[in-house]
Amino acid sequence: MSFGLIIRLIFLAFLALSVIAGRHSVRWLAALGTTDTARRRLKRIGWALWILFNLPYAYFLTMGLGTRGSTHQAWHLWFLYPYFAWMVTSLFLSAVLLAKSVVTAPYHIARWWQRRSGKHQADLARREFLAGAATALPATLLLTSGYGILRAQSDFDWFEPALKLRDWPAELEGLRILQISDLHVGNFLPGDKLAEHIEVINRKPCDLMVITGDIINNNMAWFPECMEAMAKLKQPRYGAYVCIGNHDYYAGDPDGVLDGMRKLGMTVLRDEHIEVPIGNSRLTLAGIDYPVWGRHGQEDGRLPAHVDTALAGAPPDAPVLLLAHHPHAFDRAAERGVQLTLSGHTHGGQFAFTPPGGRPVSLGDLMFKYVAGPYEQNGSRLYVNRGLGNWFPMRLGAPPEVTLLTVG
Ligand SMILES: [Fe+2]
Repeated sequence: MSFGLIIRLIFLAFLALSVIAGRHSVRWLAALGTTDTARRRLKRIGWALWILFNLPYAYFLTMGLGTRGSTHQAWHLWFLYPYFAWMVTSLFLSAVLLAKSVVTAPYHIARWWQRRSGKHQADLARREFLAGAATALPATLLLTSGYGILRAQSDFDWFEPALKLRDWPAELEGLRILQISDLHVGNFLPGDKLAEHIEVINRKPCDLMVITGDIINNNMAWFPECMEAMAKLKQPRYGAYVCIGNHDYYAGDPDGVLDGMRKLGMTVLRDEHIEVPIGNSRLTLAGIDYPVWGRHGQEDGRLPAHVDTALAGAPPDAPVLLLAHHPHAFDRAAERGVQLTLSGHTHGGQFAFTPPGGRPVSLGDLMFKYVAGPYEQNGSRLYVNRGLGNWFPMRLGAPPEVTLLTVG
């Protein structure tokens, strides 16, 4: 099944949910009217809004996400954002409706039985109150989604963890590693926005810089402006190192993306490692390729082999820093005694909730073992960056991130 067909099937599924959520929302909205005329008017307004919110759906089905063209125009994006907000609203609303149907099924059966035996009296006031309360649900979901869209497009947050690493040379104590991940340069992070982020990043002093994949979203038409912005990135004294992500493959020219980074003076690590001398110590910097689906077989299953290839011939006594776009590479890295693995890919789940003092709980938990922040296994450490950009422009509780790690 081609990638384009999968995207189209996902959009079709969302259209089905949109119809279900739309039908209920319009019914609730209409019930707010006090007269028949008002109810009919509200119903018409509801459906007109539904059509407006769903129109870009036709565009996506014909053009596909991430196509350059006129989507680059800012006004065009603002036309698309209500659609994304409604998509998420439909998804949650459908889930709530399904849960409600399951929970209230016995009540409805009992009521049906009462009606059949003529014992039931319709309570119109109660029905009106329930309709009012129900309308608040899609409205709240829409507002929350709208906030999520603004958050995804807004400034990134700095995350500055200090990680204690096993067998770390005293000379490398306090090394500052700046990590950028998942830029997804494209519709939702055009070159000029990336340049703004880079201006902020350049003001933060660091010793070494890493970029852990998904530089481009899914279309090489964005690459020239990506390069223009990346050329402004100040590279620190021990250099900048890059590994590839799945979206760099989806854009159709992974070699082109990596060549571009080399032209900017960065070191690309693709199933290989290099030795970086720092004072009298040596740091082994390794990076893996992304075993992207459809090209190299299934994702996770092939990660250990990539880690092994990248580490083949590495000196046994030097500390190792591994760049792996997919965080599941950490399992093998921990077995191999890698001190620190830096990953991205998950975007922190994009929808997450962090209880006070606890770990974030997110949608990413359904798909990934490691979603955001630091992890430890057998004394090896992993840090998962939440990403700077995105391919779905909404973030709640998982802000765009740039990381400055201090290791010791
Ligand atoms: Fe990504």
